[in-house]
Amino acid sequence: MTLIAPDTRPAQRTAVRRTYLMCRPDHFTVEYRINPWMHPEAPTDTARALAQWQSLHDLYVSLGHTVLLVDPVPGLPDMVYAANGGFTLDGVAYAPRFAHPERAGEAPAYASWLARTGFRVVEPRETNEGEGDFLLAGDVILAGTGFRSSGRSHEEVGEVFGREVVSLELVDPRFYHLDTALAVLDPVPGPEGLPVIAYFPGAFDERSRAELERRFPNAILVGEDDAVWLGLNCVSDGRNVIIAEQATGFERMLRERGYTPIGVDLSELLRGGGGVKCCTLELRL
Ligand code: ARG
Repeated sequence: MTLIAPDTRPAQRTAVRRTYLMCRPDHFTVEYRINPWMHPEAPTDTARALAQWQSLHDLYVSLGHTVLLVDPVPGLPDMVYAANGGFTLDGVAYAPRFAHPERAGEAPAYASWLARTGFRVVEPRETNEGEGDFLLAGDVILAGTGFRSSGRSHEEVGEVFGREVVSLELVDPRFYHLDTALAVLDPVPGPEGLPVIAYFPGAFDERSRAELERRFPNAILVGEDDAVWLGLNCVSDGRNVIIAEQATGFERMLRERGYTPIGVDLSELLRGGGGVKCCTLELRL
């Protein structure tokens, strides 16, 4: 009798070149409080934010990705969080409509950049914060609500792109955007056929957790220790996953699943409540 050992090697992961939009934190500071991470009374260090942001930018470029830049606008300190600048797919950009008046001025800045770059820009009727709350997972759009994007924006984004939308309810104010609680690791479905996602279950209500378990039985479940560094606020090209370097548990899990995690320090930008993914908008022209 021949015993054949089961194949326990992690899946082979393939990197796919992406195009990202970023915004230099020239005007970054924390001067208002719209999420629990922000403490306007504590001074920020813009030069440090710039240096950390630059390393992230240069890392993307060294991995072969294309990074485009939108000009930062004075007086809009949160504009560095480009993920909130829209949601793009098939050459169409669904523009944001911010929940807080402090960020309202960013919407036209991003919308006009996207139009100039060749996207057909759709102006929203509903409150939504772009890729902060909408993440493409295979054919479906995972959509967060509870703090920023409205439930009605989920219907709207579904109509705009003609895709199925899975609404997920966020319940923990620390994880106020979907991209702080959940990450899609395969920009195109990986070897399992289904994209691998990672999430912190505690950020979601019970119904949403059940929905995620049913749809993504292969998901990586991340603990609170990693989530509180905004470890899930990461960017993956299908193989390389850029994460907060403090999220060491998540880093280990990624390795076990065949990904190559690369840790970066964005601690200064974390003081505005954002991490790697927040600083990065994927452009799907
Ligand atoms: N200070 C910003 C806000 O509260 C941070 C945005 C983070 N962006 C993100 N995609 N999660 O709106």
